[in-house]
Amino acid sequence: GGNGVGERSTPSPAIRRAAVIGSGVMGAGIAAQLANAGIRVLLLDVPPASLTEQEARSGATLQDRAVRNRLAAASLAKLAKQEPPALYEASFIHRIAAGNLEDDLGRLGEAEWIVEAVVERLDVKRSVFARVESVLRPGTLVSSNTSGLSVAAMTEGRGEAFRKQFAVTHFFNPPRHMKLVELVPGPDTAAGTLSRLAAICEQQLGKGVVLAKDTPNFIANRIGTYGMLTTIEAMRAFGLGVDEVDALTGPAMGRPKTATFRMLDLVGLDTLLHVLDNVRERSEDPSERDAFARPPVLEALVANGWIGEKAGSGFYRKIKRPGGRSD
Ligand code: NAI
Repeated sequence: GGNGVGERSTPSPAIRRAAVIGSGVMGAGIAAQLANAGIRVLLLDVPPASLTEQEARSGATLQDRAVRNRLAAASLAKLAKQEPPALYEASFIHRIAAGNLEDDLGRLGEAEWIVEAVVERLDVKRSVFARVESVLRPGTLVSSNTSGLSVAAMTEGRGEAFRKQFAVTHFFNPPRHMKLVELVPGPDTAAGTLSRLAAICEQQLGKGVVLAKDTPNFIANRIGTYGMLTTIEAMRAFGLGVDEVDALTGPAMGRPKTATFRMLDLVGLDTLLHVLDNVRERSEDPSERDAFARPPVLEALVANGWIGEKAGSGFYRKIKRPGGRSD
């Protein structure tokens, strides 16, 4: 019963090849999940607009494959170092190939499922989908990992075939631990697209799938983000420190130490700001729009480049001060 599509997902042929676009926190994690389930993955990112100092010194050019695949390749290298070998088959990384959205666009034709996990901006996602559509084959599934952008808005301007083959598959962070996937159809998503995506997530990836409506932030994030905002406000009102809040809302309550601010650092504070902005833009409820205002502390951290673990610092700093405190 309930919202779960679990009981309804009938066995369907397993997919063997997928592509993930965007190799950040989520894209890399999703690629690892797929590869660990035996699926070959093409992991694409945008080619860089300039050389790093080191590349320039070593005589590399922007045309070099290694340079153009820099982001996806770096994500792969990081994953290979981080993923606990006990949880993963040692060979999983070899099922992932790094590439970039310009040179390797045509290779998307080989994928049975294309997962988009680029930055949470409607304009960027739209332009990625326009490119995907230009090489899309009949029957290829396309999904977005958006935290809460509308399916209708993301697929505006795309043809009927694309819109039928498209839905949101919202994975949670970190994908290897989080069991939930929200599946969100748009107005034109075909029933077969939904049932095939549900079958892959449940049967091949071992996830629990929940069907959500195309509302701002869907279900879990709407509640979760609101909870985070009230915690930030409580911290300010009560003059608490970041580590005090984490201790009080985490282990002291029988929850993991990633309960609050460590979790936000893991999510990425820039991504969180995008999520807040999206809700404010989409919500028709004035009190919800007020509740999702940008907290000044978040704006200040992001303005300094302290966007969380992916940058080394966020609410927590990587470099400890002499006193040993790390907040
Ligand atoms: P991230 O900041 O770690 O990575 C973003 C990726 O987008 C990078 O690979 C970047 O190179 C790429 N990108 C940036 N500009 C681009 C452009 N113009 N064209 C193509 N690619 C571009 O972000 P993260 O956290 O991996 O988020 C990706 C998606 O997943 C977003 O839609 C986000 O809302 C969603 N999401 C994030 C979660 C989190 O906890 N961080 C959880 C669930 C969903």
